[in-house]
Amino acid sequence: MNIVILSRNEHLYSTRRLIEEGQQRGHDVEVIDPLRCDLIIEKEKPTIYYKDRYLDYVDAIIPRIGASVTFFGCAVVRQFEMMNVFTTVTSDAIIRSRDKLRSFQRLSKAGIGMPKTVFTNYSRDVEEVIAHVGGTPVIIKLLEGTQGLGVVLAETKNAAESVLEAFNGLQARALVQEYIAEAKGADLRALVVDGQVVGAMKRQGRDGEFRSNLHRGGTAKIVKLNEDELKVAMKASRALKLPVCGVDMLQSSRGPLLLEVNSTPGLEGIEAATGRNIARAIITFIERNSK
Ligand SMILES: Nc1ncnc2c1ncn2[C@@H]1O[C@H](COP(=O)(O)OP(=O)(O)OP(=O)(O)O)[C@@H](O)[C@H]1O
Ligand SMILES: [Mg+2]
Repeated sequence: MNIVILSRNEHLYSTRRLIEEGQQRGHDVEVIDPLRCDLIIEKEKPTIYYKDRYLDYVDAIIPRIGASVTFFGCAVVRQFEMMNVFTTVTSDAIIRSRDKLRSFQRLSKAGIGMPKTVFTNYSRDVEEVIAHVGGTPVIIKLLEGTQGLGVVLAETKNAAESVLEAFNGLQARALVQEYIAEAKGADLRALVVDGQVVGAMKRQGRDGEFRSNLHRGGTAKIVKLNEDELKVAMKASRALKLPVCGVDMLQSSRGPLLLEVNSTPGLEGIEAATGRNIARAIITFIERNSK
């Protein structure tokens, strides 16, 4: 098969692993920078021009679209969809999953447990917002944050007020969330492929840190998920129509609580922690589904 990885950087661990496993299984694997594609749109014959040729021979794509290039990257994915090329994740699902508020709304409708969360439109009524999530301490998160940056634990009402005021002043949208103390600075990441959990790790923040992000000095080790945790991961994948995704959860006294679903999960941490061949699972998923 001709498999294309849509990625801006062929040297990233995840991209390299997908190339390696695809080739091992006898496929032609090529990395294409979505930003260098021209989309040619006309009646009944959508095509893509890349560098010096038409991409009319592709059987399947693996989108690895970064958040900063969502708009054009997803347009390229959509063009492949119009050309009847199999994709591990659709353009619509990527776009939906990039919007945290929208995703939370869908996930809550799907009956998935999550920390109680309030989204406000630069609200001034901080007291009310804090009361909605059960009082302090609360977690305040920038909607555009990543790798633990922009996630703040506010212990008191005064602290929460200051943080929200600062964020509001910067015109940065934030959400206020119930703090799950029982998680003890750890979270779970389940890697889902073809709707099934193929590997899971527990990330633990360094001492005195409530954020478990590996970029903030956290460590990861393999974990066996219980029934409820497996269910949340698979339900979340289904609800957001992301057959391949990373599902982050907190362990709480009322069961697993969903934090986030990532449509472009990194493979490095999870393969290292679990010893599982996740890249191969993605390639065999394609083999089962692409004509
Ligand atoms: N409500 C909460 N209660 C307790 N701990 C939390 C809560 N929300 C987040 N955390 C901790 O903080 C870490 C970072 O939060 P989160 O994953 O939401 O943000 P991020 O990693 O910056 O963003 P993203 O995962 O969207 O890239 C989590 O991995 C978790 O360990
Ligand atoms: Mg996170």
